[in-house]
Amino acid sequence: MGDGIRVAAPCKINLHLGIFDRRSDGYHPIESIFQMLDFGDTIWIESLKKSSGIELHMEGSVPMKDVVPPEQNSIYTAVRLFQMESGCESGWYIRLNKHIPLGAGLGGGSADAAAVLLALNQICGKPFSDISLEHFAAKLGSDVPFFIKGGTAYVTGRGERISPISVTTSWAVLLVNPGIHSSTPEAFRLLDTVRSETRVCTKPLLGRDVLVRLLESHPQHWTFYNDFLEVFLKHGTLEVQQTYQAILRELREAGADFVNLSGSGSTCFGVFADHDKARKTLQNMKGRWPLVELTFPLARKVNPVVE
Ligand code: C5P
Repeated sequence: MGDGIRVAAPCKINLHLGIFDRRSDGYHPIESIFQMLDFGDTIWIESLKKSSGIELHMEGSVPMKDVVPPEQNSIYTAVRLFQMESGCESGWYIRLNKHIPLGAGLGGGSADAAAVLLALNQICGKPFSDISLEHFAAKLGSDVPFFIKGGTAYVTGRGERISPISVTTSWAVLLVNPGIHSSTPEAFRLLDTVRSETRVCTKPLLGRDVLVRLLESHPQHWTFYNDFLEVFLKHGTLEVQQTYQAILRELREAGADFVNLSGSGSTCFGVFADHDKARKTLQNMKGRWPLVELTFPLARKVNPVVE
């Protein structure tokens, strides 16, 4: 095997997620604060000299029974799109070291797809700007464009309109995933059903300035919310209601300054200004849920490394 490239695919959480009424194309406009975290997958890529195919191998801490077949993996679709856009016919050997659980609201598949676009662009001598890569990313999924820039961002549209936020963070994030697979399309359907049956109005758009000001305040003052969480706590299955309630309560009682659900679930998280409290809570919760991970905000994406 020849030279290759290693790229990090860090996950995200949604500190805030407001969801508005479904558009005629089926997507829902959102208003969100995305935060990239120092926890995720790693991907190794090298060119196959004698083939234009894609060889995708997967390993890591995520149960392999949960992982979709290679042809349905977001990495596969990202490589095919890059090959089409660039006209580059080279084949690729890709090894995915997977740690971000699936159906977890952490953007794992999107993170992998974006990382592959960035890596292939680098290996091929940067034929595309980041803006072009963001356009390609939007074709792969609503959450993918965020991962081209990373860091912290105010996100609108269906998720593809990214406005970076420059903010200094010193808090820690404790991720707790209960091992429940939460499907995003199903979560949006539940939200639509609940809203039409209960005639609940969507909340108003808060705007970038309000959300950025909140983000700059101490996490104990954050009034961010996630519209999915309210729906799940009242209308989710009994298992979902009880699990989310139990985890969020425990994080709060342990001293988290802010707690929320990420994306459409199932990962709950606590934000701690006090790192000692976060470490103690990690020790107390570790082993009781499939994923309990102490991590920190990443200010920007990590560039691929040629090896
Ligand atoms: O864009 P992506 O393929 O990740 O979206 C998966 C599904 O989630 C969409 O088909 C749609 O049903 C739903 N979705 C939505 N509004 C968004 C993003 C996703 O309704 N903003």
